[in-house]
Amino acid sequence: MDSFVIEGGTPVQGEVAISGSKNAALPILCSSILADDTCTYQKIPDLRDIRTIIEVLSNLGMQVSGVDESCVLIEPTQITSQEAPYELVKSMRASILVLGPLLAKYGKAKVSLPGGCAIGVRPIDMHLKGLAKMGAEINLSHGYVVASAKQLKGARIVFDKPTVGGTENIMMAATLAKGTTVIEGAAKEPEVVDLADALTRMGAHISGAGSSTVSVEGVKSLTGLEYEVIPDRIETGTFIAAAAITHGQLMITGVRHDLIVSVVEKLRETGVIIKEIGQGKLFVDGRCEIRPIDVVTAPYPGFPTDMQAQIMALSCIGVGVSSITETIFENRFMHVPELMRMGANLEEKGTTVIVRGIKQFQGASVMATDLRASASMVLAALNAKGLTEIRRIYHLDRGYEELDMKLKSIGARVERIRGDL
Ligand code: UD1
Repeated sequence: MDSFVIEGGTPVQGEVAISGSKNAALPILCSSILADDTCTYQKIPDLRDIRTIIEVLSNLGMQVSGVDESCVLIEPTQITSQEAPYELVKSMRASILVLGPLLAKYGKAKVSLPGGCAIGVRPIDMHLKGLAKMGAEINLSHGYVVASAKQLKGARIVFDKPTVGGTENIMMAATLAKGTTVIEGAAKEPEVVDLADALTRMGAHISGAGSSTVSVEGVKSLTGLEYEVIPDRIETGTFIAAAAITHGQLMITGVRHDLIVSVVEKLRETGVIIKEIGQGKLFVDGRCEIRPIDVVTAPYPGFPTDMQAQIMALSCIGVGVSSITETIFENRFMHVPELMRMGANLEEKGTTVIVRGIKQFQGASVMATDLRASASMVLAALNAKGLTEIRRIYHLDRGYEELDMKLKSIGARVERIRGDL
């Protein structure tokens, strides 16, 4: 497996462009199952998770081709199978997003129970309960979800807590259901809204996406479309943090300011200067002392759990005591022991980590555990005195497009060491 070797201590400098959003692209690519003709998507990031979902779709018999760097063309006709096998799904939980579209369009689906990041139990019970309420018969057999429905029916589905994937799965299933589906307690994340926008472009009737009540009036069929996914708000936040933790200056382009308000507000509390410059540009000046902060993750528009590890790394070099509380996932502090190996002073107290500021990280050998935890180690390494080796960086390749190349282009000293799989 590949590793990164990073020599820290150099402020990042220059300009970096943000890629399309992984978490928007995944459900949107799955929604092509619902279409009757060609779907063309722009700004699809070249990532391991995207390649996995493309394999899942190809395995169903769909023709998927890359047009140029970030454009993907899908012919959704010619489906030969309704199965997403374990070998493909095991590495990525989001594969479950083919379940709703397959059921809605073809009346049956067999999808392996997902794997993915090792952050807590992460069940899919809410996806399944919602689909069952729409009339699907669902069985769990030999590690697979086996579902069938002659015709899904509109239903009122109430989520006890917002689930991004659950909202997306039900929304996609409801587009071709008979009657109206109302999702209450829906996730409001921008990626849900982006999916709703893409589905609407295909002819779906959706209202309320981005609020806690989403209504979907079923239609008979959906067309193909041309669509560009939104920029990745977590990649944006990670690069802001890179400028801050190295005390550098960075121009970040291709940004959607409205999607990163809570992240920018929190990062500004650290003293970092962040200027929104029209046309999707953001200028970050991190040449300051980092002030301590209190962060509590929350569903959108709150502070995203996917930025928790990165902001923890930054707060480690704060002058004073910070606190970071995780409320979305259990067991999402796998970066804590690794950051401590790099000299961080962290104390885990249930769902909160108390961070006592240190002057600088120290280079060490660390192990990437999940996607965002790995990003926090990269940030710590950029700040660190000496060399850091980060092993098992395939997690980073799941979610950050060309991270090593992008970091190098802004002056960071990063080398990818190729290893055997
Ligand atoms: C998505 C994102 C992930 C992000 C997360 C929360 C994608 C591909 N991934 O994950 O990066 O961290 O949203 O913003 O978009 N839950 C249940 N039962 C369910 C579904 C979820 O109990 O059926 C729980 C989860 O364990 C978790 C919480 O609900 O505690 C939120 O999970 P959810 O919003 O579903 O996350 P994902 O869609 O998997």
